Amino acid sequence: MTNRIRITPSILNADFTNLGGEIERISKNSDLVHLDVMDDIFVPNFTFDFARATEIISVSKLPVDAHLMVAEVDLVAPKYAEAGCASVTVHAEATNDIRSTLRAIRTNGARASLAIKPKTELEPYLDFLDELDMLLIMTVEPGFGGQKFMADQLPKIAQARKEIGAKQIWLQVDGGISLETIELAARAGADTFVAGSAVFNSPDPEQMVAILRGKAQSVAN
Ligand code: DX5
Ligand code: ZN
Repeated sequence: MTNRIRITPSILNADFTNLGGEIERISKNSDLVHLDVMDDIFVPNFTFDFARATEIISVSKLPVDAHLMVAEVDLVAPKYAEAGCASVTVHAEATNDIRSTLRAIRTNGARASLAIKPKTELEPYLDFLDELDMLLIMTVEPGFGGQKFMADQLPKIAQARKEIGAKQIWLQVDGGISLETIELAARAGADTFVAGSAVFNSPDPEQMVAILRGKAQSVAN
């Protein structure tokens, strides 16, 4: 078990008219900001196109963790890396060539990350661990913030932790992470936590990030 905890707040539930300011509100205590890119094809919701995303990346005070929930992701993923994201996540369900897309992300200067949806098994993707800097286990169906944490994903998180072993791969969870659920995910082995509504619906987002981190750390240490 690692004792290095990272909190990566999602701005999906933030004020989209002032994202630079919203990111600033969480920049003191957060490790990265999680940018949910949705195309209304891979998921039934739309957030940003690439042009808008690059504007956000350029004003962000925090390194950007891009979560690409878009179809035909192989072409666009390296562009997010080139645009300055610290980390780029592609969905296993959306790529046609996982290995070369992960390599292209790294070649373009970002950490390479693979996400799997709740109904997707981990086993078929274990061969790609050596190409990964982060693995994202979704704990809701991707598409919307504010959904309920799916506790039935906990065994998959534990399995991923075991498979990662001593490899330097961050294990991220995304969906429904809150004061009530973060310890469950941390205990199962997650070390990197997306939190959207828990942070941005709180009266003090910066403080909420610190509290979430403390809860995860108390279990991980
Ligand atoms: C869901 C997104 C999540 C979402 C998390 O498809 O990938 O990042 O914003 O929001 P909460 O924390 O509210 O579940
Ligand atoms: Zn996300």
